[in-house]
Amino acid sequence: MTHEMPHDTALVDASVNARAWNHIAAQGAPEGTEPGQVPERIEWTCWPGRGPRNGFLGDLTGLRVAELGCGTGEHTAYAAAHGARLAIGVDVAAQRIDTARALFGHLPALAWRVGDAAQVLAGLPHLDVCFSIYGALWYADPAQLLPVTANRLRPGGLLAFSVNAPRPRELPGRRVDNLTLADGARLPVVHYAYDAVTWCRLLDGNGFADTEVLPVEGPEGSPYRTLVIRARRTG
Ligand SMILES: C[S@@+](CC[C@H](N)C(=O)[O-])C[C@H]1O[C@@H](n2cnc3c(N)ncnc32)[C@H](O)[C@@H]1O
Repeated sequence: MTHEMPHDTALVDASVNARAWNHIAAQGAPEGTEPGQVPERIEWTCWPGRGPRNGFLGDLTGLRVAELGCGTGEHTAYAAAHGARLAIGVDVAAQRIDTARALFGHLPALAWRVGDAAQVLAGLPHLDVCFSIYGALWYADPAQLLPVTANRLRPGGLLAFSVNAPRPRELPGRRVDNLTLADGARLPVVHYAYDAVTWCRLLDGNGFADTEVLPVEGPEGSPYRTLVIRARRTG
């Protein structure tokens, strides 16, 4: 059997990350997740209660929204339950989307797409809001994803996302980490870590303006710091 590796870095990243997240999905839905249980608020960080409150995305009523790297779909479902005319969950891992469909497939206004966010976005209708929570904006090269995202958003449309900043003494840019899973498997994942100044520059250079960066510190002793970022499509 021949195994063809994609040459383009974006395709390599997407295939490495899809493998990891499909493996995670195969371990089952997150503990305590009930079908149809839409969260009451968007958690922008992995520390519940930290980060922006509800309203960070504005009023979603009647809007077309996409979540890039939606995982098991809770926050895409939140957008649909809060008035979005269309809420599209995009994830590179087919099994994560299978879980999302199983949990939320019965809700109206939802659609799901499997694939690398940059590739899927190119085939979506124009959007009012794109958001991502430790999703594609963290796992894919923003230099490639941001222009495609800008191209899909209407002028004035909102991009909001959370990513981790580089850890202390970590160089910024493309990183490979190993996730250790509950079953002992160690799987590489690729992500892109930049500080606030670099994110502002990247957004500014790729069709966005009015950028706001909210740094959120992890609990005491945590080496992690999350940046919650919001910007508007120019034009
Ligand atoms: C840390 S999880 C976050 C999931 C969800 N946003 C949440 O808050 O629970 C990252 C997700 O991003 C997806 N992902 C990684 N790279 C992606 C890409 N290039 N395009 C779309 N999804 C991607 C992974 O498959 C995974 O489901």
